Amino acid sequence: MPAKKGVLDLHEMKRAGEKIAWLTAYDYPTATFEEAAGVDMILVGDSLGMCVYGYPGTVPVTMDQCIVHSEAVRRGAPGTFVVGDMPFMSYQISDEEAVRNAGRFLKEAAVDAIKLEGGVSVITRVKAILDAGIVVCGHIGLTPQSSGQLGGHKAQGRTLESAKLVVEDARALYEAGVQLLLVEAVPPEVAAFIRDELPIPVLGIGAGAEVDGQLLIVSDVLGTFQAFTPKFVKKYADLAGISTAALSEYVRDVRAAAFPEEAHCYHMLDGELEKFAAYSKA
Ligand code: KIV
Repeated sequence: MPAKKGVLDLHEMKRAGEKIAWLTAYDYPTATFEEAAGVDMILVGDSLGMCVYGYPGTVPVTMDQCIVHSEAVRRGAPGTFVVGDMPFMSYQISDEEAVRNAGRFLKEAAVDAIKLEGGVSVITRVKAILDAGIVVCGHIGLTPQSSGQLGGHKAQGRTLESAKLVVEDARALYEAGVQLLLVEAVPPEVAAFIRDELPIPVLGIGAGAEVDGQLLIVSDVLGTFQAFTPKFVKKYADLAGISTAALSEYVRDVRAAAFPEEAHCYHMLDGELEKFAAYSKA
């Protein structure tokens, strides 16, 4: 197995022009598949609220849920760079709470970095977490936790004024010291401008190809999340279809008494069957 990457390896990949492959994961088995597939980074995203718990959005997700899922992912992918995602209200209230909650991800789930949403508006939080010695990934553009203020899950940076705000957020986060930056749902030209300007890895989700790496939500990639599919998603499998077909076959087999078969049964040990027959007739 290749050695686990640290944040400096990810910086080196940017310098060498190697693209970084990043996916979300929320559980142990998916993390094992992703590590076997060779992803460079895993995000235990608060998208788990929609993809795992069936909430309408990410806002209800709690710190405790994020920790439990991050622990499972860490166990499944011990050799991969794992990023914990700070859920809504885990960092909005104060710098102190932001540091306490970011620290929980490292102490309880042994993640390598944390991600939080926002730019200029969260700079004191970012600085406080960095001062605690924690690697921070910024997240700008479309920030789902504040989608209410953005008027919904809408792409950002599509006008000059909006693009300038995204660039200002990127600059502010870099100056604060973030080591990684995620740009979500912005035009490729805006993402490429930020990628060229900043010396840290600039990763994109729905931000075109001209970035240092790509993130997708594993439930979109594997086709297990069915509520909606964003424009930027490429679906690589239809696990919902495969799973439903397999489960329907099981239901048919049970109803037709075609399962279990002989091969699925435990048999009595040598000589015990006769004894049991006598017992059952007595
Ligand atoms: O929670 C998540 O998966 C995310 C992505 C949408 C970027 O933050």
